[in-house]
Amino acid sequence: MSNPKKITHEKPGKFEESRFEKIHSLTFDSAKNGSKLVAKEIVDSINSKKNKPFILGLATGSSPIGVYKHLVEYYKKGKVSFKNVITFNLDEYYQINKSHPQSYFTFMQNHLFSHIDIPSGNINIPNGNIKADEVLVNCKKYEEKINTLGGIDFQLLGIGRTAHIGFNEPGSNKNSVTRLIVLDPITREDASSDFNGVNMVPEKAITMGISTIMKSRRIVLLAWGHKKSKIVAKTIEGPISSNAPATFLQNHDNISIILDKEASDDLTKNKTPWVVKECKWNDHLRKKAIIWLSNKTKKPLLKLTLRDYNENGLATLVAEQGNLHDLNIWIFNEIQKTITGWPGGKPDHDDTYRPERAKPAKKRIIIFSPHPDDDVISMGGTFVRLIEQGHEVHVAYQTSGNIAVSNDEALKFIEVMYGIDKKDSLYNEIKKQILLKKDGEPESKNVMHLKSLIRKSECIGASKFLNLPQKNLHFLNLPFYETGFIKKNDPSEKDYNITTELIKKIKPHQIYAAGDLADPHGTHRICLDIIFKSIESIKNEKFMDNCWLWLYRGAWQEWNIEDIEMAIPMSPSQVIQKRNAILFHQSQKDKVMFQGNDKREFWLRAEERNKKTAKKYNKLGMAEYEAIEAFKRYYF
Ligand code: F6R
Repeated sequence: MSNPKKITHEKPGKFEESRFEKIHSLTFDSAKNGSKLVAKEIVDSINSKKNKPFILGLATGSSPIGVYKHLVEYYKKGKVSFKNVITFNLDEYYQINKSHPQSYFTFMQNHLFSHIDIPSGNINIPNGNIKADEVLVNCKKYEEKINTLGGIDFQLLGIGRTAHIGFNEPGSNKNSVTRLIVLDPITREDASSDFNGVNMVPEKAITMGISTIMKSRRIVLLAWGHKKSKIVAKTIEGPISSNAPATFLQNHDNISIILDKEASDDLTKNKTPWVVKECKWNDHLRKKAIIWLSNKTKKPLLKLTLRDYNENGLATLVAEQGNLHDLNIWIFNEIQKTITGWPGGKPDHDDTYRPERAKPAKKRIIIFSPHPDDDVISMGGTFVRLIEQGHEVHVAYQTSGNIAVSNDEALKFIEVMYGIDKKDSLYNEIKKQILLKKDGEPESKNVMHLKSLIRKSECIGASKFLNLPQKNLHFLNLPFYETGFIKKNDPSEKDYNITTELIKKIKPHQIYAAGDLADPHGTHRICLDIIFKSIESIKNEKFMDNCWLWLYRGAWQEWNIEDIEMAIPMSPSQVIQKRNAILFHQSQKDKVMFQGNDKREFWLRAEERNKKTAKKYNKLGMAEYEAIEAFKRYYF
């Protein structure tokens, strides 16, 4: 992907491939590169005003952080001054004190204002700490102040999963102005990690309205990551509706949406490119298109006809291949050969068309598990096979997972502890620390330790059940996780070193890691990045020539069928064995602390997902399995 040098606003749908798009969008290879260019546009716009006031609308949340970082850099290099910039923030939580660590006031100070030369009188953020009867008047004044200054020159936006812009949740009217609103449950869920639990997230907020935003002369909306891809596609291609307030932006004539690759995945031009343009076919795209065709026509691969291809815009595929029969057989074999009961390779068998190497027959393997239960939730069936087939399996639990143990669960364990050793002092101390901790305070070291031990004991129980010796379990307790809050630190050298040392010690032939980028709290993502970076630092070592990295997906999503390179089928009894291994993680059962929007328990989620993958394979014409675990190889 080549990144543009400048963000120029184009008419949406100008090119054939974007004909479904009603808002101009640009996709960058990374959020970092996109943010840099947006910051550059802001700096150029400020400078072009030549000492006249520049009215800048600002957003908070994770999306604009990179832009603010680059603005600060531009300022420090003397490329821009903010003396004549007047800012208006989109929103603020209600009721919240300015000094609250999660107020948008604090956010803006931390990420931008305290690092630049903006006069404090030029900063406007809705006041979230006013009485109910003052709200209306305050909102009116906010709106009037923007209008009196001539309106917003440049408005930066993020987008929520509910398609909110600012905090204009579904139901917001296109004529809405600055006002008090009630936050959608999904938005509160998304903010729960910042507030250390969903119950701590304010229920209301003050936000600029849709019409306030739409009056801006230039709008740039940022969206990063897979989590945003569906809502981005809906915003850019869907019908305008107050159920998805961001779609009102389709009526703005100077807006650009800036995306990274993951956030743009669900746009028609990326999801089904053959629908919008002539494609340059490669094997992966061919696979993707034919699987799509099979789903659409509800026919297994070997029953697809010439008419099916023709009527669905895939005639060129057959023409290029020369013959329908060969094409159908090719795709059938491609999918068929991903299926194997031998995740560590089948000894003494030709491995030309198998996902894994036959040699060495006994492999050393590390399964990296971001939280203490991802190993069994995501690949419990494969895990058992690897052990049963005689490989030397190690599990590395990357984080302690302590934050996800509830206080009730922890209290239960100290009662047991007290029952055994009858020592008052530690019992009373821990009990006090649990019961007296105020919202927003970090967890004490003792309680963190206790909660880590609870999860560790669950891992030991599960692995014993699967016949894996305890000496093969490695509890890495990566330091980035140990903050005592939901919010984690950035990974540091310590995290990389711990990981690298383990890989160097075991010299694995296979590494399994969670490639689950949609984890709501980002821990899976950080854990994967740590593995990538650690591998990068030792990839020239001899043993790494024989090391393959397989990615599994966590509880939240599955690979697309065209991406799966190894599919491990499970029988009904293996499904039950996996379920029982997951159930060893008692602290994660029933009232789970960080469940996300999916209310099913983890074992059920995993089971239904594995069954769904098996069904999808079956519908394509593969054998009928009870369940399938899926993996994608990562080439380093
Ligand atoms: C914040 C705001 C919201 C966020 C949106 C996305 O000022 O107005 O609309 O932009 O909730 O949040 P992130 O960027 O954290 O995904």
